[in-house]
Amino acid sequence: MPDNIDNLLVETRRFAPDEAFTGQAVATPALAERAAADRLGFWADQARELVTWSKPFTRVLDWSNPPFAKWFDDGSLNVAYNCLDRHVEAGLGDRVAIHWEGEPSDTRTLTYAELTREVKRAANMLLDLGVTEGDRVVIYLPLIPEAVISMLAVARIGAIHSVVFGGFSAESIRARVDDAGAKVVITADGGWRKGAVSPLKPAVDEALDETLHGASTVDTVIVVKRGENPVDWHDGRDLWWHDAIARSGDDHVAQAFPAEHPLFILYTSGTTGKPKGILHTSGGYLTGAAYSHRNVFDLHADTDVYWSTADIGWITGHTYVVYGPLANGATQVIYEGTPDSPEPGRWWDIIEKYRVTLFYAAPTAIRGFMKAGRQIPASRDLSSLRLLGSVGEPINPEAWVWYRDVIGGGITPIVDTWWQTETGSIMISALPGITTLKPGAAQVPLPGVAIDVVDDHGEPVGRGEGGLLVITEPWPSMLRGIWGDPDRYRETYWEKFADKGYYFAGDGARKDDDGDIWLLGRVDDVMNVSGHRLSTAEIESALVSHPLVAEAAVVGAADETTGQAVVAFVILRTSQVESMSPDDAVAALRAHVGHEIGAIAKPKTVMIVQELPKTRSGKIMRRLLRDVAEGREVGDTTTLADTSVMTVISAAL
Ligand code: WTA
Repeated sequence: MPDNIDNLLVETRRFAPDEAFTGQAVATPALAERAAADRLGFWADQARELVTWSKPFTRVLDWSNPPFAKWFDDGSLNVAYNCLDRHVEAGLGDRVAIHWEGEPSDTRTLTYAELTREVKRAANMLLDLGVTEGDRVVIYLPLIPEAVISMLAVARIGAIHSVVFGGFSAESIRARVDDAGAKVVITADGGWRKGAVSPLKPAVDEALDETLHGASTVDTVIVVKRGENPVDWHDGRDLWWHDAIARSGDDHVAQAFPAEHPLFILYTSGTTGKPKGILHTSGGYLTGAAYSHRNVFDLHADTDVYWSTADIGWITGHTYVVYGPLANGATQVIYEGTPDSPEPGRWWDIIEKYRVTLFYAAPTAIRGFMKAGRQIPASRDLSSLRLLGSVGEPINPEAWVWYRDVIGGGITPIVDTWWQTETGSIMISALPGITTLKPGAAQVPLPGVAIDVVDDHGEPVGRGEGGLLVITEPWPSMLRGIWGDPDRYRETYWEKFADKGYYFAGDGARKDDDGDIWLLGRVDDVMNVSGHRLSTAEIESALVSHPLVAEAAVVGAADETTGQAVVAFVILRTSQVESMSPDDAVAALRAHVGHEIGAIAKPKTVMIVQELPKTRSGKIMRRLLRDVAEGREVGDTTTLADTSVMTVISAAL
């Protein structure tokens, strides 16, 4: 009976807030009331309460030239001072800022006073190298304290960081160095992953190799000694971090910069091949980071131990490892390695060891742990946990309930947080202690954030209906643009609903009967693999750059563990077909994508085909390829130029 099937798909479990939790919760219903009564006044309050301004602002929002927003723009501040010195000045210098755990179980503890001192020394080191206000610094590091120290040191002197995830390839580093015109790269010899040292510096050396790619804008490479693995040395360009920092004093007075001074660029995949340098600025970003971190994670900074498992190479590592927690004076854990090293219970050991209370992870990891079995976490003491968070992709209700039962002892609230590199901070999430939780739904916009789900014309859909997710009003931590490309910024995010002035997020969503929001995944050609955004176009470009390939189409196919998996369809060049066995060709192409972009982008499956399904105007119909990749019956093919193509492809596979 179709009715029964429908009923099975509807998630009806509800979890009301626990009274004891509500009694001590940071967020109260007053937040939403204040935001509803006066949205801009609400943000001004948050900015004044959470941020220390060197020069107070009088203007809240300047939206006179949309989509280019200015928040708090006549105010000035130093972001690093807000994350460091002010806590020391307030007498919290002995509070632990970072409990760092290396993969081989080495540890470092940094109090706020110690972290402040290290950042001042690193700031002086950068100044000595001639880095000044507005210069770009690329950071390509494992998750070690120097990663956080580098970001804050760059921010402290008003330079701009561009963190490149340590899993990205030389090609990806070079593209980011060139796009931003970076002057300095901070890297390490290597970092620990899966029980071994994974070298990092060779990728930087290759990226900056003049004979391969021509001269670059980089004049200095600072190398942190972490892996103790041998490195090639480029005299005159390379410097050991420990040598350079030994020459730097720890006196540095943070100077204030305007609220709209750029803080960082972070590259993310778009629907075309070239990654977009998402630009964030200072005052509004820090306000959004501190506000959301405090209220969504119910942060009690004097007692909580917070742990976000995200790498600093992603936006979650920026907002919820560095800026949010440190602005709030939190004590946090950071861990260098993989969840299953040396054995599958590593994360749970870390929670037990540091008595972690607030924990933030991605659904892909949670599904991985579900597969490995509940006996692994069950053999650890996880009773310190009092709140769990999820980010990166929709968390399916079964994983949500498993997370709460097995990790959260059946009692912790779960916050499923929807946001993007572009939004800078969490936009949609339950508020712990207030919201009655629904497994699988991100649920409600944060107070102060204006969200809707609309149809193709920008009209709101009704309850029980699906559509496109939009943000209808500017918000403080919004991206300020795409580095060097204002037109692309406007086209990508603002053109679709230009008449309404809505920001288009690229995600589909559904409003349920209560008006709560359920995310449905991307509606454009961006995939979500293990919570990481990858563009179909970028991987297609990488494939086509290989001499074997004539044409390529890439789709994201549903995958039990990683959410989506990369599946590539390629047409080989006729001249090359004979030169290699199909298995060797597939292996070569996977390796090539790994080299061009990074291991995370390697297709799980490469299918060699003779034709690709195209419309009359020549557009590849990825929808049909997705049907094949997911083992479904192929959908409507009537708009294909050659309707027999799909029959041939399906038959061949
Ligand atoms: C997806 C990560 C459903 C979404 C912070 C978004 C989510 C993209 C969720 C941004 C969630 C993130 N539920 N989907 N809780 N969180 N997404 O820029 O498709 O790496 O557009 O930022 O991840 O990915 P990004």
